Amino acid sequence: MNDYEDFISTVSHELRTPLTSIRGFSQTMLASWEKLDDDNKKKFLNIIIEQSNRLINLVENMLSVTKLQDTKDTIIIKEVTIKPVIEMICSIVKTQHPDKSFKIDINDHAILADKDKFQQVMTNLIENAGKYGDDKSTITIKSNYANDFVIIKVINNGIEISENDYEKIFTKFSRIDNPLTRKVQGSGLGLYITKNLVEKMGGNIRVNSQNHETVFEVSMPCANIERQAMNAVRNSNN
Ligand SMILES: Nc1ncnc2c1ncn2[C@@H]1O[C@H](COP(=O)(O)OP(=O)(O)O)[C@@H](O)[C@H]1O
Ligand SMILES: [Mg+2]
Repeated sequence: MNDYEDFISTVSHELRTPLTSIRGFSQTMLASWEKLDDDNKKKFLNIIIEQSNRLINLVENMLSVTKLQDTKDTIIIKEVTIKPVIEMICSIVKTQHPDKSFKIDINDHAILADKDKFQQVMTNLIENAGKYGDDKSTITIKSNYANDFVIIKVINNGIEISENDYEKIFTKFSRIDNPLTRKVQGSGLGLYITKNLVEKMGGNIRVNSQNHETVFEVSMPCANIERQAMNAVRNSNN
């Protein structure tokens, strides 16, 4: 299959599944309105919301793929405080994966980034941790500061990614074939886009997966005052 055929087959599958489910649950609700109790109605509506969120993320990722090739797609770099962004994403992913716990161990670090794109990066990583992490496990997100970069780690327990696949997972449409990925759905676009966006913003991303633990590590240029002051001193010495 070429790239284009790959794209069409992935996209049609990925679009059809949530759409079918949204239509199915809405039809059932309408047809059985009187028979359904409030709890069931709520449950169905929640499924409809969840599946709509899935569609929205998918469409956003698909638009990004085409935009990545567009040199005119501007990124607006500003100072972004990472904690509120990450807290917001975790609360959304929690609704999709209620069995997971989240541990956010992040200081008031600020980075230089395009806020929307950074949000998309973190959404892809935290969603993956929710999707591929063990049932009922804890997802940890922590950050530290090193050499003018803020390093953000998204950590989950679960089936490991073998070292041979470390590069592959960041390429277009790549999914690792194991019982786990067969169970959960995906387009294989998330990490491809994530890596591209991170690098466009002057950062980098890598993965390390061993002892039943997977760590995605994103480094983003730091935006704190000390750094700017240090740079100013450095520049005046040059
Ligand atoms: N946290 C993780 N733990 C284990 N495997 C992962 C994790 N994140 C990503 N992967 C693997 O990398 C593949 C590519 O991820 P991604 O590009 O986000 O695509 P998708 O989630 O749509 O499959 C996944 O299919 C999965 O096999
Ligand atoms: Mg993904």
